[in-house]
Amino acid sequence: MKKKLLIFLLLVLILCIVIGILLYKKNTKLEYKDTISINIGDKIPSINDYTNNDKVSKITWNNLNIEDNTCYYSGTYTGSFTYKKESHTVKLKVIDTKEPTIEIEDITTDYGKEVDIKSKVKTTDNSKDEITINIEGDYNFKKAGTYNLKVIAKDKSNNESTKDFKLIVKEKVVEKSSNNSSTITNNTTDKMGKTSKGFSIVKKNGIYYIGGILITNKTYSLPSNYNPGNLTKSFMEAYNKMKKEYDKQGFKSYPTLSIRSGFRSYSYQSSLYNNYVARDGKAAADRYSARPGHSEHQTGLAADLNVISNTYGDTDSGKWLANNCWKWGFILRYPKGKDSQTGYMYESWHFRYLGDSDLAKKLYNNGSWLTLEEYLGITSKY
Ligand code: DAL
Ligand code: ZN
Repeated sequence: MKKKLLIFLLLVLILCIVIGILLYKKNTKLEYKDTISINIGDKIPSINDYTNNDKVSKITWNNLNIEDNTCYYSGTYTGSFTYKKESHTVKLKVIDTKEPTIEIEDITTDYGKEVDIKSKVKTTDNSKDEITINIEGDYNFKKAGTYNLKVIAKDKSNNESTKDFKLIVKEKVVEKSSNNSSTITNNTTDKMGKTSKGFSIVKKNGIYYIGGILITNKTYSLPSNYNPGNLTKSFMEAYNKMKKEYDKQGFKSYPTLSIRSGFRSYSYQSSLYNNYVARDGKAAADRYSARPGHSEHQTGLAADLNVISNTYGDTDSGKWLANNCWKWGFILRYPKGKDSQTGYMYESWHFRYLGDSDLAKKLYNNGSWLTLEEYLGITSKY
């Protein structure tokens, strides 16, 4: 009898332990890290880095700039995952502690002959964020002498490097005057025939207008001194109208429209492009970055909006811009699958202002974007 009682008590004890374990498991809160910091170029952490709970399978990142699971842009990103039907948020901080490197040689120029100094600067950096280049020191192309100058290169995380170089302006050479005086005309217009679709090609002061539209792509370049200095007034007016409508939409990511990269001078594009070539090689860089004198950013009529990310086109914000920008005269300049026409990979963030919303609508083509190249009948090839 006593033995039976003992077995019974033992069974009750085991049952209590089992129930206890089950209840404990049910009520255990999920343990996970809120934030992980990585350096630029590191792999994006997986869910196992945030929690070792094997019931959680995947983090969905918001607009994380991922290439081969690697992050090349600094910033703080948020992601979410679900566990027992609850949604949890985690953060990823991508930090950059490495300064850019600078390459520059001493520059020699003739008296009075201006040199675009920034275009002579080559920078390389571990991040894909833009590098700002400044030249420190005074110089004058109309005064012979040796000027000791400094390049300052800064990345988006404010990592800075400097390099000294010399600018040598040669003495003025006085030439004997000849009887042949030539006049330099700054105002030239050349009619250069028609495109395969019958649009006129006109070169005015070194700038190509095709069917009346200012065009720059791999085939048609801009003069190195073409510098509107900023996004044009008409771009900004149309952009601000579009922004007003965009900001009303209440998107979760990118609630307000912003310009990530606007006007870029010839020299800035030059350093940007050289930077990419140094990092990825010329062939790869040519697929996503324009050579100096070939970028639409130099026209002051194009800008990268909100975020430069391969996944931006899949967000509500990216979709809205792609479907509505034409109303204010903008076009998605490098649509998906049109690399062979435009010469560039899909850029869901790069918008070109055409001004003419009827033409922009034609190119929108009910969502199946036509490129300027196919519409005008032109190429985009170096
Ligand atoms: N990413 C575009 C093609 C540019 O560099 O202008
Ligand atoms: Zn762009």
